[in-house]
Amino acid sequence: MAISPLATAVRELSMLMETPGLGEAQILPRAQKIMQDLVRYDCWLPAAMAQPHPQNPVQYLLYADPQERYSLVSFVLGPNHATPVHDHTVWGVIGVLRGEEVEQPYQLASTGPGLVKAGQEIQLKPGEVSCVSPTIGDIHQVKNGLDDQVTISIHLYGGNIGHISRHRYEVNTGTKSPFVSGYANLY
Ligand code: FE2
Repeated sequence: MAISPLATAVRELSMLMETPGLGEAQILPRAQKIMQDLVRYDCWLPAAMAQPHPQNPVQYLLYADPQERYSLVSFVLGPNHATPVHDHTVWGVIGVLRGEEVEQPYQLASTGPGLVKAGQEIQLKPGEVSCVSPTIGDIHQVKNGLDDQVTISIHLYGGNIGHISRHRYEVNTGTKSPFVSGYANLY
């Protein structure tokens, strides 16, 4: 199996993180390009990192930067799976490798409690990417757009996402609960 696209992405992302003086605004477009290249061809993801959980979305760690500047995960949605509404607290780039992912961004309501939709649902097909961050919009819900197939997206985050404390949200009240996602392939 040719794993070279992943090795190339890791090499390029490490070089990007080592470039002095870059903030999120400079990193995100370059990271987006690297992720577009990574999900351009569906030929490299190990089968063990593509297995859906029977009930819930699941994420497998593909690579964690030793300095925790970034991490890459395989995010696997079984048919009809959806995440809770959640945030990330760090920047992220989502690239769809297989299937179809549907993303609904949310934001805190400006009047009263609760969350409101921040724009339309975004449908992402293989090869397409989307970004999140506390600066550009960090709260969303992600669903499998297909009811008969697994959807897999590759996520890049500006930290070790499986170890970061972040939040799930209840849309009507805005109540947020902390959670740490971990990784399905690390215990
Ligand atoms: Fe997310």
